[in-house]
Amino acid sequence: MTAFLTLDDIDVSGARVLVRSDLNVPLDEGRVADDFRIRSSLPTIARLREAGAVVTVASHLGRPDGRDPSLSMAPIGERLGELGGFPVIALSAVAGEEVTAAVAAAAPGDVLLLENTRYEPGEKKNDPALAAALGELGDFFVLDAFGTAHRAHASTVGVTEHVKSVAGPLLAQEVEALDALLRAPARPYVVVLGGAKVSDKLGVMKALLPRVEVMLVGGGMCFTLLAAEGYDVGDSLLEEDMIDEVRDLLESEWGSRVTLPSDIVVADRFAEDASAEVVAATQMESGMGLDIGPDTAALFSSVISGAGSVFWNGPMGVFEWESFRAGTETVARAFASSSAFTVAGGGDSVAALRSFGLDDQISHLSTGGGAGLEFLEGDPLPGLVALERWTHES
Ligand code: 3PG
Repeated sequence: MTAFLTLDDIDVSGARVLVRSDLNVPLDEGRVADDFRIRSSLPTIARLREAGAVVTVASHLGRPDGRDPSLSMAPIGERLGELGGFPVIALSAVAGEEVTAAVAAAAPGDVLLLENTRYEPGEKKNDPALAAALGELGDFFVLDAFGTAHRAHASTVGVTEHVKSVAGPLLAQEVEALDALLRAPARPYVVVLGGAKVSDKLGVMKALLPRVEVMLVGGGMCFTLLAAEGYDVGDSLLEEDMIDEVRDLLESEWGSRVTLPSDIVVADRFAEDASAEVVAATQMESGMGLDIGPDTAALFSSVISGAGSVFWNGPMGVFEWESFRAGTETVARAFASSSAFTVAGGGDSVAALRSFGLDDQISHLSTGGGAGLEFLEGDPLPGLVALERWTHES
């Protein structure tokens, strides 16, 4: 397990603390559409505030190319303040005079929020000047952004060179839960993968297959796997350029651990009110697969019920639309009621569990998407590695 200092190792009373959270949440017309990451980050911010620190929060939002007003942190600050019940002073810059002056003028217990770190071109380049400027904002740096710990950016990695850095409670909790899956998962270890693109998940499939007993695959990505097995997938989502690589994986010594859908809910078009029918996965000729079928959902559920640990990332279909929700909901219910150690990651899977009211029945809901996948692949996450430079002696 990664060795890093935590909040318990520092005295933050009266200190200036820079916290890197992952407040990268979906927006809908400028409003926060899903506040799971804000809610998850809040206890750390509140704890620092209550301990008498001057708290400066940093996060990215989306993938702006420069200063894009539609990706301002302002609505995030508003929601943070509403949820926390304290004022949040939203700044209009990431670094520079305005920020330095605001931090200097702040009193213990104040919470300041920097603008979107990705407004600064130096953020993604891990620019030393930006990292140093961020480092000056705190006597301590708290990395709590598990969801961004796989990015070696100025606000996650570079800053740790300039100021004593520790892991925040959310990050530590995430690492503990995922570390259990990585090192000693209770068997059978079942991984459920869904979501749109196999290209996003092929790396994790390759890395996880030798570690698991069963990998259940649904969602849009399953059609490229079905096509690699030689089946017609109609107009379903297909990444043709991935077929050969997927076929190699399915034909490898681990391929038999992958379970693909046996039936599919096929729509006549991509629309909420499309007409749909259940078709055997081997018999799809036309139409668009938008959910796994009932037989598949029942099979996946029984595998999940018999598991010792389950990791789930990616919905089984277009669960936002009622006609294509059943597969994801059935799997979610089996996941929630399983006695296995259950971990869900990725915005959509967590949103699905929350929409079914099942989120409090899961062992660990991860705020990480790509970060969780990389962690479970066994890759050291740069943000965690960077924290290791700080020890009790340093
Ligand atoms: C995420 O949503 O997975 C994290 O916030 C990281 O975002 P990124 O993929 O844009 O770096």
